[in-house]
Amino acid sequence: MCGIIGYAGGDSDDTVLERLLNGLSNLEYRGYDSAGIAVANAPLAVEKRQGELSELERALAGGGTEFDGSADSETGIGSDAVDGFDGPTGIGHTRWSTHGPPSDVNAHPHTSPDGSVAVVHNGIIENYRELREELSATGYEFRSDTDTEVVPHLIDRERAKGADRFAAFRAAIDRLDGSYAIAAVFPSCETIFVARDESPLVLGLGADGNFLASDVPAFIEYTNQVVYLDDGEFAAVSPSSVTVSDELGSVVEKSVETIDWDPEDAGKSGYDHYMRKEITEQPRAIRDCLRGRIEELGATVSLPELEELESPSAVQFVACGTSYHAGLFGERLLQRRGIPAQTFVASEYDADQLPVDEETLVVGVTQSGETADTMRALRGANRAGATTLALTNVVASSAARECDHVLYIRAGPEISVAATKSFASQQVTLSLLATALAETADPSSSASREHLRELRRLPDYIQSVLDDSNARSVAEAFLESDAYFFIGRGYNAPVALEGALKLKEITYRHAEGFPAGELKHGPLALVTEATPVFAVVSSREKTSATIGNVTEVQARGAPVVAVTDSPETVGSHADFVLEVPETHPAVMPIVANVQLQLVAYWLADALDRPIDKPRNLAKSVTVL
Ligand code: F6R
Repeated sequence: MCGIIGYAGGDSDDTVLERLLNGLSNLEYRGYDSAGIAVANAPLAVEKRQGELSELERALAGGGTEFDGSADSETGIGSDAVDGFDGPTGIGHTRWSTHGPPSDVNAHPHTSPDGSVAVVHNGIIENYRELREELSATGYEFRSDTDTEVVPHLIDRERAKGADRFAAFRAAIDRLDGSYAIAAVFPSCETIFVARDESPLVLGLGADGNFLASDVPAFIEYTNQVVYLDDGEFAAVSPSSVTVSDELGSVVEKSVETIDWDPEDAGKSGYDHYMRKEITEQPRAIRDCLRGRIEELGATVSLPELEELESPSAVQFVACGTSYHAGLFGERLLQRRGIPAQTFVASEYDADQLPVDEETLVVGVTQSGETADTMRALRGANRAGATTLALTNVVASSAARECDHVLYIRAGPEISVAATKSFASQQVTLSLLATALAETADPSSSASREHLRELRRLPDYIQSVLDDSNARSVAEAFLESDAYFFIGRGYNAPVALEGALKLKEITYRHAEGFPAGELKHGPLALVTEATPVFAVVSSREKTSATIGNVTEVQARGAPVVAVTDSPETVGSHADFVLEVPETHPAVMPIVANVQLQLVAYWLADALDRPIDKPRNLAKSVTVL
């Protein structure tokens, strides 16, 4: 996830530069590992820097640069300083890396070899490798590791064939597979050309110029009149007009909407908390995670990142907190495919005391890629000769750099301390990893076909829960309970643990999760009519055994909330049902967890807790 902005105006009291930088600062929640801008002077004025926006601002204060066509400079930006970025039109980008580590050269905008176009992009271009090869064969040189750099080169090639700016832009976009919100500027041209497919893009209609951005906060202080672009649409944004067209070039009449957010809430897209926003982002996060990783026919997984990985004899997951629960889920996925797997709380892991050799794959599951306990475990595994893999959200994080292999979960930045969308993306990435390892071990296996098909439907399943959940009334029904218990079996057991962790960390209420069969071995003594029990019950995963545990707690007077894809079977045993669509048993718990996230959220909200920053907790725990 990245943030893009464009402004065509120049007639306002502020300069283009001020508006672009202000917009980027309001989009930094979408990514903050590098930032850049291009202003449509002649030649184009381009500046981009690794690091937070302040690095870019510092560079601009130092004079800025213009494109001089020199292909030998590291960034592709010329070195002759110009006074300003004073043209009427410009674009900007704040980056969250997906291809290529954060660096000046990988920062956006990306330019064509002669600086005749600059492009910013949010999304993932799936066929960029093929396009790079094709363009390289015709003499184009690539400076960055990004997928985006193919776009200015494609535009340049069309321009060289004689196409006008918009036709060249359209022809380039036509070649892309994947997701994108893209904006391009040309020297001395007041119009910004824009395209969208499966990445957000909104236009802002201002009194003194027009905007485009990944999200409304980028320009909310200048205008609240917006037009949302739909997939497959293009726009030409000039200081005086905005024209939207479809894939065939026909003009599309769009309705103008008025945004009534409090500017305070704008960074959260109108939500009260980042946690709620991140819960609702899960369909998009999962689509990004899956993008290009399941082959066309849905039968096999494609993870080019792991091409060099040998088939392991055993897998050990090391992780903390929510990521540990994801590891437990991954362990079950592998075990059921016949691959020995174990999960360790990272702070308890000691590679020297375990059977570890180069055929052992040790997977560090870590959103941040910086958690000290997980890093210590991974370093120990490296020293013991294991093969290590980082499964992380942060490109070029410590885990990504120090492990032999890396698989990114592509959740986008997560601001709220409580992990939500990153857990879903970890579960999906682990599903792909398990399938890929099983396919390597037995290429003739087709057991995963249904699982992969259902993974592709997962974003829609989660959306249906987000659109219609009674989690809020369930939370409000149990505002004053003594404790909250969560149970599940098999694939559902890790989600029971996660449901309890989420609830305790943001509500400060006592909560425990158990594999359902464990209840009768002790915790049942705590169960009373003041302790609601949340039971995750799927129609194809140890159903009757879990229902048996549900009846045990009911007999002790505990209220039961069933989170289930089978309300007819389970409903009669429950006081409340949080329903999820019926699906594969390894996909159902990912959806069920969204219901539990919502229960925790609404309970914390009703208790007026500081949801995004719970007391005593930090997003990234870098001490042992
Ligand atoms: C809980 C939570 C923590 C983290 C844990 C590991 O909501 O976020 O339990 O999961 O601190 O962090 P990472 O995944 O960054 O290693």
